[in-house]
Amino acid sequence: MSELATTLQRIAAASDLASLDAERVSALGKNGWVTALLKTLGKMSPEERQTQGPAIQGQRADVAAAIDARKAALETAELDRKLATERLDLSLPAAEQPQGSVHPVSQVMDELAEIFADFGFAVAEGPEIESDWYNFTALNMPETHPARAMHDTFYVEPREGVEGTFVLRTHTSPVQIRAMQKHGAPLRVIAPGRVYRSDSDATHTPMFHQVEGLVIDRNITMGHLKWTLETFLKAFFERDDIAIRLRPSYFPFTEPSAEVDVGWSMENGRRVVGGSEGWMEVLGSGMVHPRVIAAAGLDPDEWQGFAFGTGIDRLAMLKYGMNDLRQFFDGDLRWLKHYGFSALAVPTLSAGVGA
Ligand code: DAH
Repeated sequence: MSELATTLQRIAAASDLASLDAERVSALGKNGWVTALLKTLGKMSPEERQTQGPAIQGQRADVAAAIDARKAALETAELDRKLATERLDLSLPAAEQPQGSVHPVSQVMDELAEIFADFGFAVAEGPEIESDWYNFTALNMPETHPARAMHDTFYVEPREGVEGTFVLRTHTSPVQIRAMQKHGAPLRVIAPGRVYRSDSDATHTPMFHQVEGLVIDRNITMGHLKWTLETFLKAFFERDDIAIRLRPSYFPFTEPSAEVDVGWSMENGRRVVGGSEGWMEVLGSGMVHPRVIAAAGLDPDEWQGFAFGTGIDRLAMLKYGMNDLRQFFDGDLRWLKHYGFSALAVPTLSAGVGA
């Protein structure tokens, strides 16, 4: 049997990826027989090369194609095996013991509601399919505003009979406008919820969670903002040594705007929130822009306020030590068993919000 026929036979018989790779090395590797044949081309006369060249290249192509095909087959078999063994029978009767656990995102939302309720904040909500006006225009981002481009927005297909442009909301900030319109002033709300942006890697998923905070009253200053955030972060991370730093920044809907950093330090080889060995950004914030207050129908000469926004998933990762955001939304029960919370341990300030 020719060398080629033997090789093809062995490739077809390879029972796993490791033995397949051994076949690849013995044919196409540095000391492989195909490689050795290819090296002979250099010493041939042009006439010889004209007939031998295509023949040798043909053998190389046959071997490579056979390897690719076998590899695909082995991978499919592996996937089939997984699908067959990692089975979840949804028709089984419910176990007598409750098995579910509270997802870290739900847990953190409950913790936020508990902490801010203590400061007199109510929880506000808005739709996830939001009009372009609420998501951008009313927040001082008119149609041509460059900040619109930063949001990687998902647009909703126009529908007959529905006027205007709709998007999957790119942040929870539109709930500021809805809350002011609905309740007027004075006002203290947080708005947790899902938001969407076209972005995906270990720290970004197309859907994620934010919480918005809004205070509208008379004579509100940045001092109120700073106290509120510092007190919130102390309660949330359950540490008194929380240090924060406000850095001047820009958001269209606040003026002035600040990014809030929280201090971290190393504990048992891990970076934890607390102390001030270094800083990391955790929130965006600022004094609500007078145009935003006016867009919501209030008089900016009478009412001022501050606002802030942050990622809930990110807060959960920092507090509970997960490092891959994508796993939050895989629905893998093993992950939930590890990171989930007991449904019966509701976070309360008196017992510690961390449950
Ligand atoms: N909406 C901003 C974002 O998604 C976050 C934010 C920044 C919210 C500053 C605020 C704020 O309320 O004042 O990136």
